[in-house]
Amino acid sequence: MQRHLEVLLSEEKIQARVKELAEEVGHSIPTDNLLLVGILKGSVYFLTDFSRALSVPHEIDFMRVSSYEGESSRGVVQILKDLESNIEGRNVLIVEDVVDSGLTLSHLMEMLQVRGPKSLNVVTLLSKALARGKVAESKFVGFEIPDQFVVGYGLDLGEAYRHLPYIATFSHEASTAP
Ligand code: IMP
Ligand code: MG
Repeated sequence: MQRHLEVLLSEEKIQARVKELAEEVGHSIPTDNLLLVGILKGSVYFLTDFSRALSVPHEIDFMRVSSYEGESSRGVVQILKDLESNIEGRNVLIVEDVVDSGLTLSHLMEMLQVRGPKSLNVVTLLSKALARGKVAESKFVGFEIPDQFVVGYGLDLGEAYRHLPYIATFSHEASTAP
């Protein structure tokens, strides 16, 4: 199988945008008693950089939900690991790596909304959904990217490539016919 990685967003570009985004979000949402909710595992790299760039005090927590297997959606969103924090009455910011169909995020927001947060906002490093004209919910987006599979800076293909400090488009020649 032939694999090609092509840099889409350099480490420098990502780091600069994350700092900008942290400033933007920090000034735009209610931040008292703020909790960042990272969606495992993809958002970990983004969350730690974002957290350090955010000038207001905050706590962090994590959830793991099922969404993707390989490169295609299963259409089901399940909680595999829940929050340890009670979010009732708190200002919550979901930190996501990429919004593709928007399915994961919309289910997640529904599930968290019923727990009675004071506010529920979303910051996503990447969005493919906006490019498709989908998902108009209020959210902060780092980069709008083309509808292509990407890896690096937390994003994986079968758990590989997360550690790359940049984001690259990934393509391969299919070895089996569907
Ligand atoms: P959605 O439910 O279609 O919005 O999918 C969102 C989730 O799918 C993300 O949180 C990622 O875990 C995964 N995903 C979507 N696109 C990519 C990609 O290009 N590379 C790696 N993972 C992706
Ligand atoms: Mg994810």
